[in-house]
Amino acid sequence: MKDVYIFAIESSCDETSAAVIKNGKEVVSLTIASQISTHENYGGVVPEIASRMHTESITYVIDDAIRKSGMKMEEMDAIAVTYTPGLLGSLLVGIEAAKVLSYVYNKPLIAVNHIAGHIYANNLEDNSIKFPSLGLVVSGGHTEIIYLENDYNFKVLGSTLDDAIGEVYDKVARVLNLKYPGGPNIEKLAKLGKPSYKLPIPMNDDSLNLSFSGLKSSIINLVHNEEQRGNSINKEDLACSFQTIAVDELARKLEIAINNYKVDNVIVAGGVSANGYLREEIKKITDKYNLNLSIPKMLYCTDNAAMIGAAAYPLFKQKKFANYDLNGYSTKSVYSSN
Ligand code: KG4
Ligand code: ZN
Repeated sequence: MKDVYIFAIESSCDETSAAVIKNGKEVVSLTIASQISTHENYGGVVPEIASRMHTESITYVIDDAIRKSGMKMEEMDAIAVTYTPGLLGSLLVGIEAAKVLSYVYNKPLIAVNHIAGHIYANNLEDNSIKFPSLGLVVSGGHTEIIYLENDYNFKVLGSTLDDAIGEVYDKVARVLNLKYPGGPNIEKLAKLGKPSYKLPIPMNDDSLNLSFSGLKSSIINLVHNEEQRGNSINKEDLACSFQTIAVDELARKLEIAINNYKVDNVIVAGGVSANGYLREEIKKITDKYNLNLSIPKMLYCTDNAAMIGAAAYPLFKQKKFANYDLNGYSTKSVYSSN
């Protein structure tokens, strides 16, 4: 079969990225322009600044990805772009760029869901998504345990009832005066501490749903109360206590799902899958049940266009192309409704 080359663009949040992906798995080239150092000064992503920065860097990023690939845009089989979920102004920058490339080079346009991108990041370099599979999706806006029946047929078995795990990492980091994005900074600090703080266990039940807002609030209250009393906080221990409880709960719920759904494969997806403690704890469980575990390489855990090219590949094979009235949407689910 002829090789398929997809030129992919991602601009849903604070990374402007473009990539050339061969056959849905091989990363021919990848360019990522991160805005983190700018948003860091504000303690989080400022949507207006994000879209302006995408506008400034999108052409450079596209140019760089095609140059590094050693190929020409004429050789691409399709142009793929993230259209949801994300910051609307940011999404539109990528979408408009993709439409122009599609029109000028007469290539089909593929609209990709960002969460599908995180899931298909597992196919990058080694095609490791096997069906059926259980999945743990952990990002800044999503926390779900899912069942993957086959390509783009994903069902939610359980999800957070309030905050997403990445969001809670970022909020806890903020109250500890750590820089945005909080996840990697909490992880670093947690390595130096012990889980000595007693914090509430989130949703201590046997359902597959999760809840992190109680844990988040208890940490924020604890820090404020200690500050008011003039007491100091052991930040390392608090970071470690938070991470241990949050990740152990994710792992515990995944184990319940494993006991209820007979699958041989587990995948992990989303920015929080870069977390070393989470990777270790999930590995312990999949080893215990003798299951195949797929977690993306670190580079592909957080936002990037390579994962968008990987998620576009099954859509290309099914000829699911978008029209030029494609719009951006801040939230659209990739999951089937039942
Ligand atoms: O998937 P992602 O890049 O963006 C969204 O689609 O939301 O996820 C970003 C989230 C942020 O909340 C960030 O703090 C978290 O992933 N994150 C981490 C780590 N690296 C990124 N959380 C915990 N440990 C990490 N090493
Ligand atoms: Zn993401």
